[in-house]
Parts: sequence; C-alpha cells; structure tokens
Amino acid sequence: MSYGPAPEANAEALDWLARNDQRFGHFINGAFTPPDTLFDTLNPATGKLLAQISLGSAASVDGAVEAARRAQPKWARLSGHQRARYLYALARLVQKHARLLAVLETMDNGKPIRESRDIDLPLVARHFYYHAGLAQLAPVELPGTEPLGVCAAVIPWNFPLLMLAWKVAPALAAGNTVVLKPAEYTPLTALLFAEISHEAGLPPGVLNIVTGDGDTGAALVAHPGVDKIAFTGSTAVGKAIRKATAGTGKALTLELGGKSPYIVFDDADIDSAVEGLADAIWFNGGQVCCAGSRLLVQEGVAERFHAKLKRRMDGLRIGDPLDKCIDVGAVVDPVQLDAITQLVNASAGDKYVADTPLPQGCFYPPTLITGLSAASTLMQEEIFGPVLVSMTFRTPAEAVELANNTRYGLAATVWTENVNLALDIAPKLRAGVVWVNGTNMFDAAAGFGGVRESGFGREGGWEGLLAYLRPSGKSSKIKPIPTTPAPKEAGVVGLDRTAKLFIGGKQARPDGGYSKPVYSPKGTLLGHVGIGNRKDIRNAVEAAHAAKGWGRTTAHNRAQILFYIAENMSARADEFAARLKAQTGKDGRAEVEAAIARLFTYAAWADKFDGAVKSVPIRGVALAMNEPCGVIAALCPDEAPLLGLISTMAPAIAMGNTCVLVPSEPFPLSATDFYQVLDTSDLPAGVVNIVTGAHADLAKPLAGHMDIDAVWSFSSSPVSEIIEAESASNLKRTWVNHGRARDWFAPDSEGRAFLRQATEVKTVWVPYGE
Ligand code: NAI
Repeated sequence: MSYGPAPEANAEALDWLARNDQRFGHFINGAFTPPDTLFDTLNPATGKLLAQISLGSAASVDGAVEAARRAQPKWARLSGHQRARYLYALARLVQKHARLLAVLETMDNGKPIRESRDIDLPLVARHFYYHAGLAQLAPVELPGTEPLGVCAAVIPWNFPLLMLAWKVAPALAAGNTVVLKPAEYTPLTALLFAEISHEAGLPPGVLNIVTGDGDTGAALVAHPGVDKIAFTGSTAVGKAIRKATAGTGKALTLELGGKSPYIVFDDADIDSAVEGLADAIWFNGGQVCCAGSRLLVQEGVAERFHAKLKRRMDGLRIGDPLDKCIDVGAVVDPVQLDAITQLVNASAGDKYVADTPLPQGCFYPPTLITGLSAASTLMQEEIFGPVLVSMTFRTPAEAVELANNTRYGLAATVWTENVNLALDIAPKLRAGVVWVNGTNMFDAAAGFGGVRESGFGREGGWEGLLAYLRPSGKSSKIKPIPTTPAPKEAGVVGLDRTAKLFIGGKQARPDGGYSKPVYSPKGTLLGHVGIGNRKDIRNAVEAAHAAKGWGRTTAHNRAQILFYIAENMSARADEFAARLKAQTGKDGRAEVEAAIARLFTYAAWADKFDGAVKSVPIRGVALAMNEPCGVIAALCPDEAPLLGLISTMAPAIAMGNTCVLVPSEPFPLSATDFYQVLDTSDLPAGVVNIVTGAHADLAKPLAGHMDIDAVWSFSSSPVSEIIEAESASNLKRTWVNHGRARDWFAPDSEGRAFLRQATEVKTVWVPYGE
C-alpha cells in the first residue's frame, strides 16, 4: 500500500495574496503603509515568489514606535476586563481564520500542513484565550505592578505565528503596546494577523508590524522609545542584543538556541521512545530551538534502539508540505539548507540517511550520526535541520553529565518506565523544560524558556506575564556616597585591625596584597579592608561552586540556618549598631533590627516559595519548580550597608544559591564583622563568600565570569551598563539598579521580587496513564 497525494487547497491563501497585489507595506497605527523598498518572500518548497515585502528602515521603525507610544497610555488605562475582551476577540478570530493562517504559514515556511494546522494554530488560539484570562485577572492578582510601555518583539522564522502569539498576547494583556518584527523569510502570517487585529477592533497603534531584516531588527532594538525587548532567535543575535541594550534600562527576555538531550534509559518503552524521538527531531524538520537533537541512549539497548530508529526514519515521508500525508517539509530557505549541508559534510561519524525518496529543491533528508565524540562540533552546535546525533551512556550519572555538557540549557527529554529515576534526573538537568516520557509538549499555562546560553525569561504562565510588568511607583536617582577621605591626622581606637576577605569559609588575604583604611566621618581610623581583585573573584567563585550541595539541602535546613544567623546577629546587635554608627555617623540600631527581621523573612520563605502544578491540557502534570540559579554575585548597596547586604544574601541562600558578595565600598566593615556571625551559624563553607574592593573594578570580572549564573547590582557606582554588557559572555541573568535608589527598609525591598530573581522556573511535564 502506498500513499496518494492529499494536497490541502491553497486557493484562499493565493486569493489573499492576490487581493494585496502580492505587495505589502508595514502595519503602523492601524493601517498598512504603501509598499516600499521591496524584498521577496518565497515558498521554499517550490522556490516560487509568494509576495514582496517592505524592508523596514529606521524611519519605519520610528513611525511604528511613535504610534505604539501614543497608544500605550490609553491601552494601559483600560480595565483588565476590557483588554481581556480584545484578546478574546483575537483568539476567536484566529480560530475563524485558522485554515487560511495554517496554509499561509506552510506556504511561507515550508512546514507540513499537518503541523501548522494541528499544532501551531491551536497553540496560537490557546495562547490568546489564556492571556484573555490573564488580562482579566492581573490587576487583582498582581497588585503593585504596571506595564513596561512599548515592547519590541523580534521573532524567528521557525514558528512565525506562534512566536508572534507568545509575545503579543502577554504584552497586550499586561497593558503594553507592541512593535513586532517578523523574520525576513516568513512575514506573511504576521501581516494577515495585522488584518485580523483590525477586524478585532484593536485600537490603532496597540499592535504595529514592521517587516524587514536583521538591520530592521537592530534599529528597533536600539530605538530609545522601546521599553522592553522580547527576542527569540539565534544565540549570536541574542548576545548582540544583550550588548546593544546594556545600560539603557530596557527590559529584556531572550529565548535562544539549544542542543537538547533526549535521554533513553534501558527500561524505557522503546517503541514509544522511538516515536517520541521522531517528533523531537523531525517536527518542523528539526528547525526547532528545543528539538531533541542529541540522543543519549543507554548502552544495553542502544543497538536495538538505533535499529528501530532507522526503520522509523525510512518510513518518514518528505515532500510537498501542503500534502496532508507529509512528515517532513521543506527547509525554510536555501541559505539554511546550505548551512545544514556544510555542517554535516564537515563532520566525522557514521551517517545514516533515511531510505526514503527526497524531492528536488530545498529539502534535506532525515539523518542520524553516530560515533562522534562528546566535544565534536555536531554534538555541541545547533544544526537546525533534520539531523540527529547520538551517543551512548552507561549510568544515570553519566547520562546527566553528558546531557549537561553543553553551553545551552533549553529543554531535555527523559524516557524511562521508572518514575523514581525520571524525577531524580529531572532536577539534575540544566534546562528550563524537562519532558518525561513525551516530548515537545507546550501550553500557554506552562512556562517555556531556557538557562545558560539558551537565554533567560519564561514565556507562558504567570511567570511569563511578569516579564511584561514592573513594580509601579517612582524611584529616585541614587546619590553616590563617597568613601570618607583620610584626615590630616587620623585618630586610632584600639588595635589596628585588617579585615580579610571571606572565601570558602576562611578568612583570606587579598591576592594583590593591598588593603585600604576605613575612616569614620570624624576621621577616626576604624580598620583596614582588603582590596579584592580578579584572582580573588576567581577563588570566591570556585568556593561557591564547591559549595553547590547547598542547593540540595532541604528548605527546612536552609530556614534553620537563616534563623540561626539571625539569632547570632541578635546576640551581637549592639556591636553591629555601634559599627554602623562609627562608619556612617548615624544611629545603627534600627538597621540592625531590620536586618534581623529580614533574615527571619527569608528563613520563613525558604520553605514557602512554592512551585505550582499547571493546568495544562494533558492527562498528567506540568510541574513548575523553583530551582536555584546557581552562583549569584551581588554588588551590595551603600544606603544601608548591613541591611542591604543581608537583603541580597538572604533570598539567594534561602533559595539554595551560593553567592559572592561585594559589600558596600564606603562602609565595608559591617560585612567583614558579619562573616564572624556566619562562622558560628553552621553555614557550610563557600555558600557565602565576601570580597571587599572597588565596585568599579570588580563589576567586570564578576559579570564576565563564565561560572557565575546571575549578577545583581545595587551599587551606587555606575556599573549597570558594564554588568549588562559583560554578562553577554555566557548570557547570565542580571538584575541591576540603573542608578536608581531603593529604600531598603520598605516592604518591597524583600519578598517575591527577590525570590524570583533568585530562582529559575523549571517546567517538568509528566504525562500519565496506561
Ligand atoms: P537570527 O537570530 O539571525 O534571526 C532571528 C530574528 O532576529 C529575525 O527576525 C532577524 O531578522 C532578527 N535579527 C537578526 N539580526 C538582528 C540584530 N542584530 N538585531 C535585532 N534583530 C536581529 O536567526 P536566523 O539567521 O534566521 O537563523 C540562524 C540560526 O539561528 C539558525 O540556523 C538556528 O541555528 C538559529 N535560530 C534559532 C531559533 C530559535 O528558536 N532558538 C530560531 C531561528 C534561528
């Protein structure tokens, strides 16, 4: 028996293109601009021209941002319910036009109609429905927040309409307006969606679409009228955007590449795992950021698994994406086809190419490569095509090690019939999403996004909405506090003391051998502190890594230690208060009491910052687990030298992170006294490391360090820009003050906002049933 052709009709899509003369302008302020400076968008399956698209210039970007700015205040003033109605209308209209959208998507992108019709479009509609609900609930459920303003969305070509939905829906729900730039290969469904938004009665300027290439995207990202950038695409461009926005105060979320492991244990249901793998790597021709592109199979079943896999590959049908029986469609563009071909041709290893007819044109055959070393290019780099690489492992520990041996951390899949094993492995995988006995499960209610060089931020769920909001209220500019200069003649009290650094639970002399005096406002020499350098930072990070077992201790245990730190500080409260007074000249008692209360707060939170079970449409659960980020470095504030230090340290360690703290530069002695408290509070060595020194000198080595996972800065030195720029090295998360002050005594200087910065949400999908 063989398949006959079952083509989906495309007359309506062709009609839509013809109605628009196959030429499109931008969609700005509720209307299309005249087509200008045109480039072609082709059907990759046929090579035929679909339409000509306008190449957005700086002026078009300007016009779109202006329109979005003008529309934003009114859109934000609507009630949640009013915005919900618009989002609901968009959801309904997407469903009404679902077939046209699906066909157009397939023609522009080359993905099988089965996928655009049965996966992309239902997920798009679901996203708008879900966010209609979030728009309705947000004002009550998220008090004290406000929209960011104008959001720029820059999206890739692999899921053109779905990525639009992932960005537009939460942005609008939260009260922002949007300028979206679709990818140059696949602009058509965004333009049709612009029409649909008009039909939904969306006010002019709330959604604007500027088509164009990377330069258009760069102009949008750089535009001063943009408050937030949501980007999905390659890691290289993500890094460029991180650098381009450094210091501007623009919010940023990045969803980037991946090299996601697909782990098959020897007790797995092999047939299901093979079927899952076909979906993991040949869904959308492998042009998927979370594609299960790296098979790790346990040695005992590897031969059998590979044999079944090859048989399955031979059964895949490649060809006309509009044919309903096609499994693998066209590669998006000849440029991408070339890139895949070159990467595979240059690679060693045994290559198995599916024994199935391959049409002429922009198609690449499903391919399996075995016999590569873990460090080889194809094991490490995204191929972004229908090419799977495979390795074997012996033990679960080795599986985890191989799985994590990548700079990425987007998704991972685990197949085993042993639920204990699956749930033991899931937390050990460095990834934002883990699928157990299934793959490519997505839903609007469940967060999606990565760690490490797969980017930061989540899309979907409450956590995704929060990326489009900020705390409401105004902050003032930070007033730098200068270090007290040396008086002409310094008085000395008692014995001169030189406080050392605190690294790995021990006092350590600064590597450079330099220290500096600290004076009271009246000119009394209070002591000396070490001047830490790059080498000290390296040592501190090493110690913080060695202490990462802290993340696996129970939350109860972490809470107990935080209480104990508070108890020991309380016993020395007078001494700490006197030290504050000596350094700052102000009474320190209230600050010490606030610091003790804050330690209590985070001792309380340690076992109460709960994850969630998301209501996703599967038989099973999607667990949103709050995991520690890893190693957090923080430049602590000057405004409240002790309370500020505690306010940054306590949420970090409560959530299981280890940290490197750089205390206040003018008032460092409270921190160096504090490590004596840590010494007596049962805190394992290396969980907290303290390096005194100049913020301006230490910001760069901290932000550029490849083994630090997040950097926070509340410094009064102007280091926000350098931190954001340097963080592009490994795309660590940053949380910086951009020169704004904070009242460390205020209620919003503790709690959830800090805990969210100290955690990554990992979504673990566990379907169940016989
Ligand atoms: P890309 O990252 O260059 O393009 C994504 C989007 O960013 C497009 O809209 C593009 O016009 C825009 N863009 C490009 N340069 C920009 C800049 N400097 N500033 C602002 N926007 C800019 O991805 P591309 O070139 O289409 O694909 C190259 C490789 O990237 C693929 O082979 C794949 O490995 C990876 N990729 C990963 C995706 C993911 O979902 N993680 C999606 C698309 C590509």
